[in-house]
Amino acid sequence: ARPHVLIARAVFPEVVDKLRQHFEVEANAADDIWPREELIRRLQGKQGVFTTGSERIDAELLAACPGLKICANMAVGYNNFDVPAMTAAGVLATNAPGVLTETTADMGFALLMAAARRVAEGEHYLRARKWDRWAYDMLIGQDVHGSTLGIIGMGRIGQAIARRGALGFGMKVIYHNRSRLPAADEAAVGARYVSKEELLRTADHVVLVVPYSAESHHTIGAAELALMKPTATLVNIARGGIVDDAALAQALREGRIAAAGLDVFEGEPKVHPDLLTVPNVVLTPHIGSATVPTRKAMANLAADNLIGYLAQGRAVTPLNPEVIGA
Ligand code: GLV
Ligand code: GLV
Repeated sequence: ARPHVLIARAVFPEVVDKLRQHFEVEANAADDIWPREELIRRLQGKQGVFTTGSERIDAELLAACPGLKICANMAVGYNNFDVPAMTAAGVLATNAPGVLTETTADMGFALLMAAARRVAEGEHYLRARKWDRWAYDMLIGQDVHGSTLGIIGMGRIGQAIARRGALGFGMKVIYHNRSRLPAADEAAVGARYVSKEELLRTADHVVLVVPYSAESHHTIGAAELALMKPTATLVNIARGGIVDDAALAQALREGRIAAAGLDVFEGEPKVHPDLLTVPNVVLTPHIGSATVPTRKAMANLAADNLIGYLAQGRAVTPLNPEVIGA
């Protein structure tokens, strides 16, 4: 009998078709956000699920879905997965790393440039028909080229941002990470390891690319913002909750840092109301990986993990490979 797979959110029809070649598929064509009880009900009799980051997979859900063998996340981040609980239940977890690295690094630079050069503020100003003359100090911001770029989180995306900064913009790149990169990797991306405090004190621009976890919760709060230069910008393309959004809104309003660019928010898709009213922040709706080729590659990678595991017992990008070994 063919395995049964649930696709929890809408995704490219070609990827649904590919999965239908291997599995009995229940798809969420309407793209409803299923309440948890409904997700659990629909998972009955399914061996695999295609998730997107909006589905929380934990011990309680796994206990209610004993037939489940694999959860394939169409995202590199997997804070919606309780991986130890999945391993304990013998359920394979997969994410979608690698395919979105360069695209997400591009978005980091887009927000960095938009914040430092006040692109969004300028656009709002123009659309509001306030632009009536040139002025020497109209919307003057900070330089990106030649400045010091501080990267917190030096995984694949952090390194891709470092390369852009060092090679494309002549930036001095410093970074902080849980573990230091091997010297050859530091040299390859032109980055120097520093403490978090030194990074915050000396960087002209700070980009956050750490995965969300209990330890990275509020990596940037009022105390960290107070260390930053008043001319500095802050970019978060990682996860909501890495930044204390209320403290950031206050720092922006008081001019304690110059500007920020945020693609992710605590409690998104809700956005802290104070962020919506400060002018010096660029806000985007979690679109870091949102290009046509990259979203297709992510969806195909998630599908290939389901096909590989349920059809051949192998996955492409497993997070808990010990489940396969067992
Ligand atoms: C998007 O946020 C991802 O984790 O891929
Ligand atoms: C994601 O690919 C990361 O490791 O930064």
